[in-house]
Amino acid sequence: MNSKLRKNKSNKITLSVVVLTLLAVGVLCYLFVKTEAPIKINYIDFCDVGSVSCHVTNLPYQNSKLSIDTRVDDLMQRMTQSEKIGQLALIDKNSLKSKNDIAKFGLGGLLSGGGSKPLVNTPEKWLQMVEDFQSYSQKTRLAIPLLYGVDANHGHGNVFGATIFPHLLGLGASNDATLVRQVAKATAEEVLATGINWIYSPNLDVTRDTRWGRTYETFGSDSKLVARLGQAYIEGLQSVEQNGVTSVATAKHYLGNGATDWNSSINKNFFIDQGNTTLSESELRQIDLEPFRQAVKARVPSIMVGLNKWNDEKVVFNKHLLTDILRDELGFQGFVVSDWYGIYEKESDKYQALVRAINAGVDMVMLPYDYQLFFVDMQRALARGDISQTRLDEAVRRVISVKFESGLFDVTSTDSVATSSIGSKEHRELARTAVRKSLVALKNNGVLPITKSTGNILVAGSASSNIGQQSGGWTVEWQGVDGNWIPGTTILQGVQEAVSAKTKVEHDKEGNFSAKQALADIGIAVVGEKPYAEGWGDNAQPQLTDEDLATIAKLKKLSKKIVVVIISGRPLDIDQYSKDWDAVVAAWLPGSEGAGVADVLFGEYPFTGKLPVKWEL
Ligand code: BGC
Repeated sequence: MNSKLRKNKSNKITLSVVVLTLLAVGVLCYLFVKTEAPIKINYIDFCDVGSVSCHVTNLPYQNSKLSIDTRVDDLMQRMTQSEKIGQLALIDKNSLKSKNDIAKFGLGGLLSGGGSKPLVNTPEKWLQMVEDFQSYSQKTRLAIPLLYGVDANHGHGNVFGATIFPHLLGLGASNDATLVRQVAKATAEEVLATGINWIYSPNLDVTRDTRWGRTYETFGSDSKLVARLGQAYIEGLQSVEQNGVTSVATAKHYLGNGATDWNSSINKNFFIDQGNTTLSESELRQIDLEPFRQAVKARVPSIMVGLNKWNDEKVVFNKHLLTDILRDELGFQGFVVSDWYGIYEKESDKYQALVRAINAGVDMVMLPYDYQLFFVDMQRALARGDISQTRLDEAVRRVISVKFESGLFDVTSTDSVATSSIGSKEHRELARTAVRKSLVALKNNGVLPITKSTGNILVAGSASSNIGQQSGGWTVEWQGVDGNWIPGTTILQGVQEAVSAKTKVEHDKEGNFSAKQALADIGIAVVGEKPYAEGWGDNAQPQLTDEDLATIAKLKKLSKKIVVVIISGRPLDIDQYSKDWDAVVAAWLPGSEGAGVADVLFGEYPFTGKLPVKWEL
């Protein structure tokens, strides 16, 4: 055999060896993946049924005299992997299969989403319910308390009898940081009084398109205003302590959630909510990031990631936004929580979705349903190295640090928790002040303020006597309620209270007054939107209903002058009608204290509100 042939042959042998080795490695890898041991959930032993005796006491992390860092270090080194995973899970209380699961999975947090309330909706039942859930967290070996979250967007809205403040858009119109701080403080008092320690507010979205159903949840479209009032809101929420606990505020929805494009929603029922934000990074930074920068400076303990995408990628998967910018640049020290089912929505590979979100920087996952799946996938991801131990520890450390900082480990006593602040006289008075300061006179041909001694006044319109409607979404139910069965005052009642003893006030919702010889001095029409929340309120052309327009027309025929008060979560298209009206007032969604509207209509207080979003007549 000549040397050339020999060389060829040996080349062929080498090639075959390489190919065979590669094949073998491939088969082995395949077999390894195929035979990966099935992951079973390692439950956490707990006192009632577990093998451990009840939790140990007098450990360093339980000692309130030690520094938070020392306590966190001590607790971290005691925690098993399962206990750590549990701390990152946030479940809606209605998704709990059994209360024992709080202990078995060592859950980090529970929440009541919009309308997720106890069977009997009273402050006392809320307190009992939350304390009962909390007692299960205390059955675990380490007794790590639960975070319990709620959307107190305009007061403790889920709770029957709570003070319902104007939605944030109205507070944006007040442009009054001191007022906003007081409203937030009162809200935190009412929330803490029900044993709840975590508040998903303030909303720091900067609204661009007022057709969006969440417009009213924001302070408006001016990023600087949102930043200033957001900071005041956070300070207010954090200024209250009850039984050693300070409520944990949440700035939401990071980032660009107020700038999504029309018709880009991933939800087929919505148009713009949960949509895609098309913006350059510099625009995003200039407008949307500012309020969050301010919130971080105000030491907000948690930040919720939006359900939106940014340039076609879900924000919840975006490491650049969640880690490079939020952590490394802004220096955020608290924990990042994802929004409702946000990491899983429309994801066919839920495992990958979880891995991506955690690695991007989500610390706690608002699942909010399937915690079994979360546990299995987290353990698998850690076993495979798809999520590192370091990343797990980092996230857990952030969550439990906030729990220590807010005093949850050191609750002094719950005996003296007083639900009496809920809907108290002082809070209702504050809400009434907030209503006064939020009103904006869009047009006034000299009819405002109305003289208190005016002879006769006709009041009509769908929102003239409807506390549910004037409160908007996130009131008792997620989508709000209709009617006067929740405590408060209607705008009609406010008018009746405001006028002189000899003024005659007549009311008919539809404006069907019996024809008189003489015209009434003033007709007041209180009209507007029916309650809605989130994407259900997306509306291509927000406007008055035909029914409201007909009522106004009837009222106009019977009155010398007409004042139209608009109850709405955003500007309505009234351009073609408003020229026939003598005055138009934007009252936004004032909440339970409708009397505040009359205070200003009748000149007890001046109009001081300024438009927080564009509304041209
Ligand atoms: C909303 C959040 C809210 C969460 C919990 C989601 O649908 O987008 O703003 O905090 O539900 O109720």
